[in-house]
Amino acid sequence: MNKTVFSGIQPSGEIHIGNYLGAIQNWITLLDSYECFFCIVDYHAITVKYDVKDFQDRVWNAIIDNIACGIDPEKSRLFIQSHVPEHTELAWILNSIAPMGDLERMTQYKDKSKQHKENINAGLFTYPVLQTADIILYKATHVPVGEDQVQHIEFARRIVKSFNHRFGKIFPEPKELLSHAPRILGLDGKAKMSKSMGNYIAIGETREVLQKKVMSAVTDEKRIRRNDPGDPSICNVFSLHQFFTPSEKRDEIETECKRAGIGCVDCKKLLINGIWATLEPIQEKRTTLLKDQNRLREIIYENGRQCKQIAENTMGQVKEQMGIR
Ligand code: TYM
Repeated sequence: MNKTVFSGIQPSGEIHIGNYLGAIQNWITLLDSYECFFCIVDYHAITVKYDVKDFQDRVWNAIIDNIACGIDPEKSRLFIQSHVPEHTELAWILNSIAPMGDLERMTQYKDKSKQHKENINAGLFTYPVLQTADIILYKATHVPVGEDQVQHIEFARRIVKSFNHRFGKIFPEPKELLSHAPRILGLDGKAKMSKSMGNYIAIGETREVLQKKVMSAVTDEKRIRRNDPGDPSICNVFSLHQFFTPSEKRDEIETECKRAGIGCVDCKKLLINGIWATLEPIQEKRTTLLKDQNRLREIIYENGRQCKQIAENTMGQVKEQMGIR
């Protein structure tokens, strides 16, 4: 079977370094060896309250940010979910296969219904069903995601098994692909980095804001005075060095931290330099991309048209197998 990758990201306004390290960096490594579909999932994003006026900008920003991070829209099909209505059509069909009990167990649903008590809607509940439809419309075999999405991919596999069993085997069982950074913690060093927790570093951060945010980050809380030795293994700032600082320098920081040779402030300054070395070229590319948006729009719309053709074929097969004509 061909190897096909599908993954999605919500247009939540700003891509943060959790998204970048947990998903997008991994997507880039797959561009040459897989057929890749990367989707800005605008229909998922409307399951929480949002500002209609900003929505289009958020979707388009997500496209630009992904390209600036290194997703080549001519090597992959980077597209917008709502350009392919078959996603929601298949989701309805899968709704009649998805067990309520499975959906009730989803951690993301439980978390989001706590966060948005005033708006616990059916879309939030059936969110993993639409996610399954996204993946299987393109018969994806692999889904590169961060750890928080693994439960949804397991759910997708169960739905695929049920569908194949009842109506005939047309879908491969999708597998998650985790990156080397499946769970990046936020600046508090406790919760997962996420937009909704406000504990994130966005890829579009100015150097000044980056500096403020890193300086406010929680380190090894037992290290109170500069002369106390630190424990890098429980320090989130040190764990971020793993992704932004060359290994030799990182080893040196680790040794020095343990013997109180380097303080948290200096350790943070080095991290700021490391993160900035990653963010600055992304931001420069973003500025360049903004100068020629018309061409990009054509590519993204064309990608959507190509995805629609594939999706129509899959829907034809699904309906045939299910006796819907
Ligand atoms: P979303 O938009 O929340 O996140 C996009 C990707 O970033 C990963 N991620 C993280 N990885 C490591 N550490 C973190 N702190 C962190 N925060 C986010 C996520 O795991 C994800 O891979 N439901 C999905 C979008 C989606 C999707 C799909 C994904 C819709 N359809 C089909 C895969 C396949 C979501 O909300 O991702």
